[in-house]
Amino acid sequence: MESLEKNLKKIIECLRTHNYTKSQILPTEKNYWKLPLEPLNLLNLLFWKKNALFEWTAFPAFYQKLFKIFYPQVFSLFEIFFLNSKVKREEVSRFFSEEDINSFIKNNILKESNGNYKFNIKLIPYREMIFNKGASWFGKDSVTFAECITKDLNGKTVGKTLDLCTGTGIQAIISKKYSKRVTASDIREQSIQNAILNSNINNLTNITFLTSDLLKNISGKYDLITANPPYGIVSKNPDDKTYGLHTVFELIENLDNYLNNGGMAKIITESVVKNGKDMILEKIKQVFSNKDYTIVLTPLDYHINKPLFKLVHKEYGISHIPLYIITFRKYGKNMIVLLKLPLVKKIICFAYIALMYFKFFLGMKGHYEIQ
Ligand SMILES: C[S@@+](CC[C@H](N)C(=O)[O-])C[C@H]1O[C@@H](n2cnc3c(N)ncnc32)[C@H](O)[C@@H]1O
Repeated sequence: MESLEKNLKKIIECLRTHNYTKSQILPTEKNYWKLPLEPLNLLNLLFWKKNALFEWTAFPAFYQKLFKIFYPQVFSLFEIFFLNSKVKREEVSRFFSEEDINSFIKNNILKESNGNYKFNIKLIPYREMIFNKGASWFGKDSVTFAECITKDLNGKTVGKTLDLCTGTGIQAIISKKYSKRVTASDIREQSIQNAILNSNINNLTNITFLTSDLLKNISGKYDLITANPPYGIVSKNPDDKTYGLHTVFELIENLDNYLNNGGMAKIITESVVKNGKDMILEKIKQVFSNKDYTIVLTPLDYHINKPLFKLVHKEYGISHIPLYIITFRKYGKNMIVLLKLPLVKKIICFAYIALMYFKFFLGMKGHYEIQ
């Protein structure tokens, strides 16, 4: 672990010297169905320059070629450390000494096969930071949630923050910029070790990391609680009436015991809509109807479960899946507000859902089984 951290720090230093974080404007997730939204990717590349690594695009190669013209060195590093492409040793030698390369090989983070070299660490640029993915999750939701937290905390100072289901530690590490004390936990020890590594390589330390099955090992009360818990339809068991939302439900049920008066909690989660009822909204109403909380559910999109279409939408009868950021404020009068998705976005989402239903009923099969 120590030599991994040493090697990682060396790599991160090289990435910083070569402005690796510039590469975060490249969309990488290939999806032809999102073609109508392509102008947004182009506008981002040219003007907004936000993190687009997990955005869908019909033409990832086009953006990469364009980027390579202007930033050839950054793109080489992006190929090596984000796309994890196979490269020749000379390519790695452009950035690292022979001694470093041998140390990477000894440390098993660089593998050689038939004269080709491939790093097996994925380094994800986000804003001015770089995260080692390790075996943790890092996706579009991680970025969306991190952006939301940054926007909310900008200019504020929070006392005690708790980040649950921390994964790579992204939300905890961002919150450290604005909080006096941060505690972060995850059920997986491996994720915790990686989150510690990430806090060190991004110089945002003094975070208390611990393993915990949700709130089991957590004590005390906090001013801010953030969580990107696991969600999604993960069970084929017909008795599982939570449709993979059990961790989110457990969190909603226990949140009040861990939040200081005047405090705020933010959760990003999917819900499911079955027979016109939104299961997360119903759960919140059930738990908070007689508590002095102001709760706002902000929908980010509506989608369907494409890989498990038959199971989720046909067998379980779920019409669609909203993605929310939910803000719980422990003050004020009792209020639960479900915001509306902006009309244009709603039309786009439901057009896409209708297209997927149409595609399914035409018999254009995808993978229907849980993998
Ligand atoms: C969707 S990932 C979010 C990771 C990170 N916060 C992010 O936004 O990228 C969910 C995380 O929850 C963790 N997890 C799953 N079940 C958990 C549980 N019962 N208690 C705590 N953490 C859990 C997983 O190990 C994973 O790191």
